[in-house]
Amino acid sequence: MKQFQICSKPTFIFFFFFFITLSAGADIPLGSTLSASNPTQTWSSPNNSFSLHFLSLNSSSFSLSITYDSLPIWSISAVADAAATFSFLADGNLRLLSGAGNTLWQSNTSNSGVSHATLDDSGNFCLKNRSNFVVWSTFDHPTDTIVPSQNFTVGMVLSSGLYSFSLNRTGNLTLQWNKDIVYLSLGLNATVSTNLSNPRLGLQSIGILSLYDDNLSGSVIMAYGSDYAESGNILRFLKLDSDGNLRIYSSSKGSGTSIVRWTAVNDQCQVFGYCGHMGICSYNDTSPVCGCPSENFDPVDPNDSSKGCKLKREIRDCPGSVAMLQMDHTKFLTYPPENLNDVYFVGISACRGNCLSGGSCVGSTILADGSGQCYIKTSSFVSGYQSAALPSTSYVKVCSPVEPNPPPSSEEGGGGGKGKLRGWVVAVVVLTTLVVLIFLEGTLWWWCCRKSPKFGGLSAQYALLEYASGAPVQFSYRDLQQATLNFKEKLGAGGFGVVYKGVLANKTIVAVKQLEGIEQGEKQFRMEVATISSTHHLNLVRLIGFCSEGKHRLLVYEFMKNGSLDSFLFFATENDKNGRVLSWENRFSIALGTARGITYLHEECRDCIVHCDIKPENILLDDNYSAKVSDFGLAKLVNPRDHRRTLTSVRGTRGYLAPEWLANLPITSKSDVYSFGMVLLEIISGRRNFEVSDQTDRKKFSNWAYEEFDKGIVKTILDRKIADSDVNMDQVTRAVKVSFWCIQEQPSQRPMMGRVVQMLEGIMEIEKPPPPKAVHEGSISGTSLNMSSSISALSTFATSAHGGPSSSSSFQTPVAQSSMSVERASSSLIHRETTSS
Ligand SMILES: *[C@@H]1O[C@H](CO)[C@@H](O)[C@H](O)[C@H]1NC(C)=O
Ligand SMILES: *[C@@H]1O[C@H](CO)[C@@H](O)[C@H](O)[C@H]1NC(C)=O
Ligand SMILES: *[C@@H]1O[C@H](CO)[C@@H](O)[C@H](O)[C@H]1NC(C)=O
Ligand SMILES: *[C@@H]1O[C@H](CO)[C@@H](O)[C@H](O)[C@H]1NC(C)=O
Ligand SMILES: *[C@@H]1O[C@H](CO)[C@@H](O)[C@H](O)[C@H]1NC(C)=O
Ligand SMILES: *[C@@H]1O[C@H](CO)[C@@H](O)[C@H](O)[C@H]1NC(C)=O
Ligand SMILES: *[C@@H]1O[C@H](CO)[C@@H](O)[C@H](O)[C@H]1NC(C)=O
Ligand SMILES: *[C@@H]1O[C@H](CO)[C@@H](O)[C@H](O)[C@H]1NC(C)=O
Ligand SMILES: *[C@@H]1O[C@H](CO)[C@@H](O)[C@H](O)[C@H]1NC(C)=O
Ligand SMILES: *[C@@H]1O[C@H](CO)[C@@H](O)[C@H](O)[C@H]1NC(C)=O
Ligand SMILES: *[C@@H]1O[C@H](CO)[C@@H](O)[C@H](O)[C@H]1NC(C)=O
Ligand SMILES: *[C@@H]1O[C@H](CO)[C@@H](O)[C@H](O)[C@H]1NC(C)=O
Repeated sequence: MKQFQICSKPTFIFFFFFFITLSAGADIPLGSTLSASNPTQTWSSPNNSFSLHFLSLNSSSFSLSITYDSLPIWSISAVADAAATFSFLADGNLRLLSGAGNTLWQSNTSNSGVSHATLDDSGNFCLKNRSNFVVWSTFDHPTDTIVPSQNFTVGMVLSSGLYSFSLNRTGNLTLQWNKDIVYLSLGLNATVSTNLSNPRLGLQSIGILSLYDDNLSGSVIMAYGSDYAESGNILRFLKLDSDGNLRIYSSSKGSGTSIVRWTAVNDQCQVFGYCGHMGICSYNDTSPVCGCPSENFDPVDPNDSSKGCKLKREIRDCPGSVAMLQMDHTKFLTYPPENLNDVYFVGISACRGNCLSGGSCVGSTILADGSGQCYIKTSSFVSGYQSAALPSTSYVKVCSPVEPNPPPSSEEGGGGGKGKLRGWVVAVVVLTTLVVLIFLEGTLWWWCCRKSPKFGGLSAQYALLEYASGAPVQFSYRDLQQATLNFKEKLGAGGFGVVYKGVLANKTIVAVKQLEGIEQGEKQFRMEVATISSTHHLNLVRLIGFCSEGKHRLLVYEFMKNGSLDSFLFFATENDKNGRVLSWENRFSIALGTARGITYLHEECRDCIVHCDIKPENILLDDNYSAKVSDFGLAKLVNPRDHRRTLTSVRGTRGYLAPEWLANLPITSKSDVYSFGMVLLEIISGRRNFEVSDQTDRKKFSNWAYEEFDKGIVKTILDRKIADSDVNMDQVTRAVKVSFWCIQEQPSQRPMMGRVVQMLEGIMEIEKPPPPKAVHEGSISGTSLNMSSSISALSTFATSAHGGPSSSSSFQTPVAQSSMSVERASSSLIHRETTSS
């Protein structure tokens, strides 16, 4: 018994469990064997918490596992048959043999001096030499699970099917599919700037996942399990599940079950490959479910929808009759490294057409978030996500004809033809009756009520109120329904909801915005509305009124006849018949007006506002082509905890987002300055700042433009559509310089908005701007989206750890520093920043 020693745990157990070890936890001598045919054979830890044995998967297959209450925490991935044996050979090697005598697995520890093995009370199975030196251990060779007191170091991998989890030297935790696609990368927060020497990940027994390193003064908490530090005899473990998600589980001693306490990827549909090749992930009420794009596909395995889908007719079998199947609200997941070459900035029909004509293209996704990004999929594995909240459309190549999915009701199938027919008859009868009834009732209602004074025209109450008083008018939902003819004429759709044209009773034309995703209370909503409507400036779109009734939240704005700036900049052709090519004078005054509007928001009004989403789509033009900034103050209204929404409709538009959005730094008014700089460059050039083309040497337009500017050429940056007309080149040069100052990577380098106005006006000299440095070139990757979901989970726990979210802290710094763009947009606005340049 002198030999007995556990490999990594405190030694007090040594004496305490002395007697138990006699029967259970004794050293395992060389030559010991377990066989699958005798499931009662086990090698156990001293206090019987853990045991190593053949775990039965079904009647004919077994896995060799270390278990805690029958939950496996370490398993050999090879499946063993009923005649398999596991031996601790005389030469010190561990070997799993199938019934037929094939080696399924071995530890490769022959002739390394191994003399005995132990399984200790932390669940570590060790092979040791005579001086109790650990030659090999399961903790050093993890499979898919980490338990407390186990160190997960650089180079170790948890794997489950095609999924793997690893820690790298820089401290990033990454989840990968097929050792290739990184669908999650969780890192240290930006305040930790030291270089790590030898990072280790460990799960504390109280349920906190921490990163340790000799160069860090303490550990860094990566995640809290939701039951962390709760007492009881509970084993927590971190597991990479076969669905590609990483979770912390808790299991109470003796229960034999485990409960999820933390999930790395909140949105399961964002896990690459979850539904297999060509599978489309979506949600029924609660769970993710897998389906196929259309009837042109068959499931690979009818019994397992997550295995993916295959075309009924391969594309190569139908040359000449290939069609594109359109899927609304669907995207194909795009994560590094696959997205680097396949992003184009083209419109929806080009996105579809490019794929159709591209031989290797299997599908494409166009984002409808204003960025105009089109992802072309050429890879042999495509993973889809469908949700009503997704602002994207996807196309997939199929053989004609396109056969859309049948309505879900027909899926029940299988039943006898007779029963089906009877069901149909009943359904048709019921439906017809319903329709007739509704029609009758409607006619009756119209007939008797149309003459009532309440109907017909809007009630006069608000017509009497003076808009000029500045107080916003409150409309009823019905008022607005009538003003917009039941939301008939759509003007556009932005990040916050759809905008409709309406006419009020006093013949004022208005734009009615139907807000989505607002879950704030009535009182808070009114307060925000009051703030927005008290913000008056010539260059800001004016709020006329609002409606807050039940679930409905609407805002009524003055109507801008000429619509938004983007249609003039990017969609006008050389000899535009609609006169949409803006002259240089117009452009310059729009730039100046926009700058003045933003200056007012930042510096001059009572409750100062960071806009967070400045882009051409949010700059409207009135009859005289004066610029009016819209959508300010809205980000604060949107519920930051609505994860599914925030994932898919990023507030703030990439291409215009300042680098600090992606780098986890505080968002200040300087972030708006950055966006303005990009817009200014677009006003000058008529091209999207992120456009890549042969003309720009395949560089992002904004980078290419700086190079031209650096060479002393400004004319090439100017929009070609106006290059031949009479243009004040002094103004152009000034505007170009201002825009490069605004898009500096460092917020402190960017001027304040008031200064920008002065620079444009020519009141002050402008030095030559340094290169803006395109740091966030890779920001279009999907990882950033994903990280927002997973890190927001962290920040939720973090706040609860400090006794509830603190509301006052939002004044100077964003509440959730660790969370990405989305959450910050909605929680950190509105207050004047004291930073100065
Ligand atoms: C048992 O499980 C294995 C692997 O999970 C599977 O291949 C086998 O078909 C199953 N056998 C039965 C009888 O279900
Ligand atoms: C043992 O060696 C074989 C062959 O080199 C290898 O495939 C296997 O992964 C090794 N086993 C362990 C536990 O490292
Ligand atoms: C067994 O030992 C481990 C490690 O010391 C301890 O955490 C656990 O509570 C013990 N289990 C039992 C049933 O005594
Ligand atoms: C056990 O291994 C260690 C490290 O290799 C070695 O220093 C020690 O001498 C070995 N003990 C015996 C008894 O072989
Ligand atoms: C984990 O690492 C720590 C610090 O290096 C060490 O003290 C501990 O023994 C390690 N645990 C195991 C099981 O190797
Ligand atoms: C860390 O991981 C990232 C990908 O997640 C990779 O780009 C980087 O090179 C890795 N660094 C090291 C030191 O392995
Ligand atoms: C590592 O994590 C940090 C922080 O989350 C992130 O900014 C960085 O992009 C990650 N690195 C890679 C290569 O994904
Ligand atoms: C981290 O390492 C890089 C390169 O090895 C070095 O340039 C940098 O200064 C280091 N940072 C710190 C904080 O030591
Ligand atoms: C990290 O630790 C190593 C060794 O412990 C040391 O050489 C290195 O300078 C440290 N780096 C930093 C940035 O502290
Ligand atoms: C959603 O799907 C899951 C898994 O397929 C199923 O168990 C659950 O009953 C479904 N829920 C609804 C409301 O259809
Ligand atoms: C699906 O399951 C049924 C019954 O469970 C079985 O008969 C059939 O062979 C299975 N199909 C496939 C493709 O595995
Ligand atoms: C970032 O990490 C530092 C050091 O671990 C910590 O003090 C700080 O609270 C963290 N910030 C957030 C927002 O989690």
